[in-house]
Amino acid sequence: MFGPPGCGKGTQASKMVDKYNLCHISTGDLFRSEITGKTALGMEAKAFMDKGELVPDSVTINMLKLKMQSLPDVNGFIFDGFPRTIPQAEALDNMLQEMNEPVSKMISLKVRDEELVKRLLMRGEASGRADDLSEDVIWNRVRVYNEQTLPVASHYQKQSKLVEINGEESIEAVFGEISRILDSL
Ligand code: AP5
Ligand code: MG
Repeated sequence: MFGPPGCGKGTQASKMVDKYNLCHISTGDLFRSEITGKTALGMEAKAFMDKGELVPDSVTINMLKLKMQSLPDVNGFIFDGFPRTIPQAEALDNMLQEMNEPVSKMISLKVRDEELVKRLLMRGEASGRADDLSEDVIWNRVRVYNEQTLPVASHYQKQSKLVEINGEESIEAVFGEISRILDSL
């Protein structure tokens, strides 16, 4: 699942887990659980997340590798919020090649910047998620996405794996589109 902060990656991933018995791996959720546990990794990540910056690639890739090694047998994985840079995409491709299970599709949810900021400010009020509380931090996340993460879409487009969906439809309508893609795999 690919797209800017607030586009609906997590919302759609949890619906996919229910319907298709897939394992959802969100690097953002993994970092937040490390922060809750007050681990050294969590403290390192928090310094970046609070500013809306990316956590360094080496830290992120190592955490993901450990997570993948600990997982049970499932029909497949949904990566949410990973990869976010070209080095992360290359690391993932290499890891999956070793398992003989390449990325099947990149599903990209397109949402305008103003709508993203509106959604995240609303969620910040309801949930108190730390990086949703300041409009400046939210805009920085959007900027970081546009500058550092968007090139990852071209990486998978070159492999003919990119599918773009309008993420401004209702949650159910977006899920309908995603289901059609997964059913075709
Ligand atoms: P991460 O946790 O991945 O956050 P994010 O990318 O900023 O995205 P969000 O989780 O905020 O949004 P989402 O797309 O999941 O949308 P959601 O479904 O929640 O990353 C956080 C931080 O961790 C990063 O900034 C970085 O510091 C670090 N990090 C994580 N991964 C990293 C990596 N690989 N490398 C380096 N650093 C990394 O929906 C949002 C809201 O919109 C919800 O309230 C939802 O109800 C609502 N909504 C959803 N769909 C719709 C719809 N169709 N219509 C109306 N509302 C909707
Ligand atoms: Mg999310």
